[in-house]
Amino acid sequence: MSAREVRIYEVGPRDGLQAEAAIVSTDDKLRFIGLLADAGLAEIEATSFVSPRAIPQLADADELMARLDRRPGVRYPVLVPNARGMGRAASASADAICVFTAVTESYVRHNIGMSIDESLEAFAPVVERARGAGMWTRAYVSTAFGCPYEGEVPERAVVEVGHRLLELGVDELAISDTVGVAGPSDVRRVLTALSEAGIGFDAIGLHFHDTRGTALANVITALALGCRTFDASTGGTGGSPFAPGSAGNLATEDLVYLLDREGVGHEVALEGVLAAARFIAQALGKELDSKVGRAGGWPASLG
Ligand code: COA
Ligand code: ZN
Repeated sequence: MSAREVRIYEVGPRDGLQAEAAIVSTDDKLRFIGLLADAGLAEIEATSFVSPRAIPQLADADELMARLDRRPGVRYPVLVPNARGMGRAASASADAICVFTAVTESYVRHNIGMSIDESLEAFAPVVERARGAGMWTRAYVSTAFGCPYEGEVPERAVVEVGHRLLELGVDELAISDTVGVAGPSDVRRVLTALSEAGIGFDAIGLHFHDTRGTALANVITALALGCRTFDASTGGTGGSPFAPGSAGNLATEDLVYLLDREGVGHEVALEGVLAAARFIAQALGKELDSKVGRAGGWPASLG
């Protein structure tokens, strides 16, 4: 990947499906993940080894990973909340894991029943074990732009949690707009604070939700500042069951369309993403929740 290219980190099978009311069958999830790989996505967050009571939509994680057709050159990260989840990820021969905390205490408490300090303590041995096994590691920094319980979030809090996660040895921070409240000036403010604190953009992925229609404006802003990794969910599925009012993730097809129009390099084919989007919308029994999913690519023959 050249320095000017963008990495698209697909979160549909995990962040997308965890928040949908319908439970998709394991067969359909596997087909969806296969279509995403066909589209050229090289990082596909596959599932979560969390409590099936907390996220029943992903209760088939062990079976899914056992049956997954792993394509060469594709990474399939899984979400891990604790040592037990790490054990399950290791048994499943996962090649990458993601831990997750947030910038605000109330959100972490609602999501995983811990304080921020407790979450970082719990993740230390998890990250150590993952690194020892040669896995790539990512940490979600939720509520980085605003919290459903606490409101506005100061950027210094993002910097502090980010630093502490990097000290644990994670490879990447996913700076997340969990409730989709950020606008371009928030993105500039938070990214500038991270950069000034010595956290390089190579170690940052941006996770935007399009709840209020600002996700693509935020992507353009972050691109101009030099960020190169963006999360997106094919079909625009998702949200967070622990974030009241949060709607879908930025749709992968909307992101790919924008990058194509802007001439920004990446390795994902819009028509392939649209095929995967149509498939998952049908499996969920709902309309596609994305602009480009509804309108198609342009010229029409391309999508
Ligand atoms: N995998 C499977 N089951 C697990 C587990 C794991 N990694 N960790 C805990 N559990 C089970 C326990 O066995 C227990 O089951 P039981 O109720 O049948 O006895 C139950 O989950 C609760 O475990 P406990 O250790 O008491 O923790 P908790 O109730 O404080 O829950 C988490 C903590 C982190 C396990 C739980 O909140 C969770 O999985 N949250 C996921 C949140 C999430 O995915 N959010 C979206 C991502 S942003
Ligand atoms: Zn999300």
